[in-house]
Amino acid sequence: MERLNTGIRGLDQLIDDGIPRSWVILIKGPAGCGKTTFGLQFLCYGAENDEFGIYITIGEPISHVKKYIRFNLNLEKLTTEGKLILVDTKLIKLSDLSEILQDAIGKYNAQRIVIDSFTSLISLYKDEPTLRQEFSNFLDVVRQVKNATWMIIEEGTPRSPDALSEFMADGVINLTYFLRGNHRVRGIEITKMRGTAHSEGIHLYKFNEDGITVYPEEKVFEM
Ligand SMILES: Nc1ncnc2c1ncn2[C@@H]1O[C@H](COP(=O)(O)OP(=O)(O)O)[C@@H](O)[C@H]1O
Ligand SMILES: [Mg+2]
Repeated sequence: MERLNTGIRGLDQLIDDGIPRSWVILIKGPAGCGKTTFGLQFLCYGAENDEFGIYITIGEPISHVKKYIRFNLNLEKLTTEGKLILVDTKLIKLSDLSEILQDAIGKYNAQRIVIDSFTSLISLYKDEPTLRQEFSNFLDVVRQVKNATWMIIEEGTPRSPDALSEFMADGVINLTYFLRGNHRVRGIEITKMRGTAHSEGIHLYKFNEDGITVYPEEKVFEM
């Protein structure tokens, strides 16, 4: 199984040397935990290493994202050089998202694709069978793209399972935070990763000027 480097320092060591290429990974966590940073860091690392990336934000303008993501990720440089494209859409349904994706994927040979985020889009569906059907159609589109690895972002906590997407994704990575005394510690946990061994602990991660770093040796809770 071919693995890829996520570009998130320390993370690949938790997953038997990296995420299998062409997997669909769900990134979950509450607001402010670093999901957008995670997604962009993943894309920028790929773009620096000649893997074309597509970032799609749903319902949030790209200009916003650029304003608040203040890490040394070379976003401007990589987009100018044509190694990465950043796309924003209004709040749309899955079928419309599929069309936008097919259009973008037809034009570029993308190897890393991030969708930020699914949460508002899922809330557009009132009835479960329709959501299920559209989700399954959407995944058919996703799986047609050969050699692309996907990160799909969702708001949520590890204990608020969105059964559908967790069930269908190849991997689930949770970002959370805990109070230790009067300050917050951040923890990353891999709760699902098909076809590979992975850590079962909650590992410390921190932000610095380059984005997110995971500390594989440091668990948030000791057994
Ligand atoms: N230099 C920085 N620029 C932006 N956010 C930073 C920086 N350093 C740390 N952060 C943290 O990153 C968080 C934003 O991360 P973000 O990826 O937008 O989270 P999410 O997408 O999960 O809401 C902020 O709440 C802040 O705690
Ligand atoms: Mg975000």
